[in-house]
Amino acid sequence: MLFTNKKSDVLSQSTQCAAVFAYGDTLLASADAIDKQQGGALSALITNHDLKDKPGSKRWITMPVEPKRPYQRVMLVQLGKPTGKKSTSLSSDSLLTALSALANALSHAPVKDAAIYIDDIFSAGMSIQHGDETVGAGWLAEQLAVACQKACYRYTETKSKPDPTPSLNKVIYTSVDANRLKLVRPALIKGSAIGSGINYTRQLGNLPPNICTPDYLAEQAKILAANSEKKLTARNLNQKQMEKLGMGAFLSVAKGSAEEGRLMIMEYKGSSAANAKPHVLVGKGITFDTGGISLKPGGSMDEMKFDMCGAASVFGSMKALVEMKAKVHVVALVAAAENMPAGNASKPGDIVTSMSGQTIEILNTDAEGRLVLCDTLTYAERFKPKSVVDVATLTGACVVALGNHATGLYSNHQPLADKLLAAGIQSNDKAWQMPLWDEYQKQLDSNFADMANIGGPGGGSVTAACFLSRYAKKYPWAHLDIAGTAWHSGARKGATGRPVALLVNYLVNA
Ligand code: BES
Ligand code: MN
Ligand code: ZN
Repeated sequence: MLFTNKKSDVLSQSTQCAAVFAYGDTLLASADAIDKQQGGALSALITNHDLKDKPGSKRWITMPVEPKRPYQRVMLVQLGKPTGKKSTSLSSDSLLTALSALANALSHAPVKDAAIYIDDIFSAGMSIQHGDETVGAGWLAEQLAVACQKACYRYTETKSKPDPTPSLNKVIYTSVDANRLKLVRPALIKGSAIGSGINYTRQLGNLPPNICTPDYLAEQAKILAANSEKKLTARNLNQKQMEKLGMGAFLSVAKGSAEEGRLMIMEYKGSSAANAKPHVLVGKGITFDTGGISLKPGGSMDEMKFDMCGAASVFGSMKALVEMKAKVHVVALVAAAENMPAGNASKPGDIVTSMSGQTIEILNTDAEGRLVLCDTLTYAERFKPKSVVDVATLTGACVVALGNHATGLYSNHQPLADKLLAAGIQSNDKAWQMPLWDEYQKQLDSNFADMANIGGPGGGSVTAACFLSRYAKKYPWAHLDIAGTAWHSGARKGATGRPVALLVNYLVNA
């Protein structure tokens, strides 16, 4: 999809759809201009209550009145009812609701291009309140691009009668103010790249586990590299190479499966940052988690195909960095394996030696994520990283603690935690910090090894993070538990693409 910024007004911009806005009973400038040209067709929608005052309410208007109009259709979108004294301050929540309603409607309409007049809010003297901050046209343009990309994703791969591909392929951010348009240009590029990274993450997550195997992911890394104008390189370690490195924890998970485990290494070097120390991303890529010999119950076990969503978000973030030509140096490590029960699978009670030399008693083969991640965290040391952030659908306990809204964040370095929290707020892909206190560490004690791989019934998300922390002592590290945020269950079943927006914002801010 192409995103452009253009200085033009609604009465001269030719487009298949002009998207204009109402704020309560008020038509913003472009809506008002069309209303005057079209004999009051838009204000009538308001006076007759055809347009509701909830953010995201919308009406299509096809008007035969003025034949020379350059817009073929109009969509009037409601931003919400002004509240209280500060009636010129618009909440970012209402705005994001309106943008995603608009983007969804466009994606289902027979329009190839749309001109969006959301910049009218600034001309009207309004401001956007986002958390504790006021944000401007750059933030708005980024969110618009993300919303349009997300709305146009369709899963088609394994359907014989897939939904039609959206026609929308061009979105114009229109403004009458040249200064604001300067901010908008890079923001559209960034938002478009983040949106496309999110969709790639959703696609990898949604693919069935008989297609999306560790080998499939390794192939994806090669494809990303081939389309990167040599900015991204990709290679991977097979089980034999991991054995040489002493990755006994990783291999204990992979060995019960017919699919070979793989550790992928992608490196993105944006110009001017090429010699800086890298930020490292680590993704949990369990392409299917049966639980192993500690077999999971059958109900919704299919959703364990999403157990590679951490890996998928790392792929999506790398794709976004490539597309926006970000000036950063990032290494991505993806730990891919399938967790299966088998005659040669790990058993409860088995003790393995990790690459770090620490021994682990596997008391539950379903706590496999931390086993593939711990060796990958040790491997990360060789890049002398500025920071390491791992992303994992690690614990059901995190879903109990935080539900489906916030990603769980743990860190051994508060400045890093603060940057990630801020990036989450900025991009509306929020995380919430959880404790990583020493008190929890002793839950991992084992009578027979340096540690157990589970920490008992209480604080399951915390003890999982404590386990990882023992392998991340040599650099500033953070862990994102996305078990509650990576996918939707039920009727909307599907990967969300989180936390790509958080990660990309963090990396380009850092
Ligand atoms: N992939 C799961 C975590 C998970 C479960 C995420 C359900 C989302 C929904 C992970 O490998 C796992 O099985 N964790 C166990 C850990 C336990 C055995 C200590 C869990 O959360 O039950
Ligand atoms: Mn598991
Ligand atoms: Zn798992």
